[in-house]
Amino acid sequence: MNSLFDLGGKVALITGSSRGIGHALAVGLAEAGAHVIINARTSADVDHVVADLRAAGHAADGSVFDVTEPDQIERAVTAIETTIGPIDICVNNAGMQRRVPLHEVTPQLWAEVLDTNLTSAFLVGTAVARKMLPRKRGKIINICSIMSALGRPTTGAYTASKGGLKMLTQAMCADWASMGVQINAIGPGYFHTELTQPLVDDPVFDSWIKQRTPAGRWGTTEELVGSAVFLASRASDFVNGQIIYVDGGLLAVV
Ligand code: GCO
Repeated sequence: MNSLFDLGGKVALITGSSRGIGHALAVGLAEAGAHVIINARTSADVDHVVADLRAAGHAADGSVFDVTEPDQIERAVTAIETTIGPIDICVNNAGMQRRVPLHEVTPQLWAEVLDTNLTSAFLVGTAVARKMLPRKRGKIINICSIMSALGRPTTGAYTASKGGLKMLTQAMCADWASMGVQINAIGPGYFHTELTQPLVDDPVFDSWIKQRTPAGRWGTTEELVGSAVFLASRASDFVNGQIIYVDGGLLAVV
């Protein structure tokens, strides 16, 4: 049974994995046996994470590139495949949040959020898929959100990007499932990370989330690892185009 979830010998690229959810997923995939590739925009962000993983006995390397820059992505994917090996697993995690009422969102901010959260998954996903499809195997995991299904005041650009990412997951399934690639998504609820720290620090919001979430608490990023290992492993070989909401029950109740 354990071999169903064993990632030994697999190369896993996780974008935006120097901190937060991406970092937790990288550690979890490494603990499941994967050779993880840590990504961020600077080597300062990448190098210490790689060093920590190696010190813990895991196979890890870094790949510095901006997930919104096609040329950097192409060079990085080629370098990984040339120097480390075929990318078996790609987690499109990189994302950002700016909490601004929609009528105050500038065109520049809108573009920045959509580029970082949605277009990046298209750019990285297609670059990796062009390598996976001829091999007729691969796993792509897009990190969506409960905001793929719900809106909340001041999160319009983010919500639109995560809704789009859910549908991009289904579009990838439509085009690539027949060629042996499985593309799914994880939709986190409210987890305590740097991105949500302002919300955790707000006693009113903190209290509301604990009441709105059936589990009565914030999630911890390690609680996302099980879904990621499942979707990265052969245990999910006939699962495609799906989103697993890891939200303490939030979307299940009103
Ligand atoms: C917010 C939060 C959410 C969470 C997460 C929930 O402002 O409501 O930032 O968007 O970050 O995406 O899944």
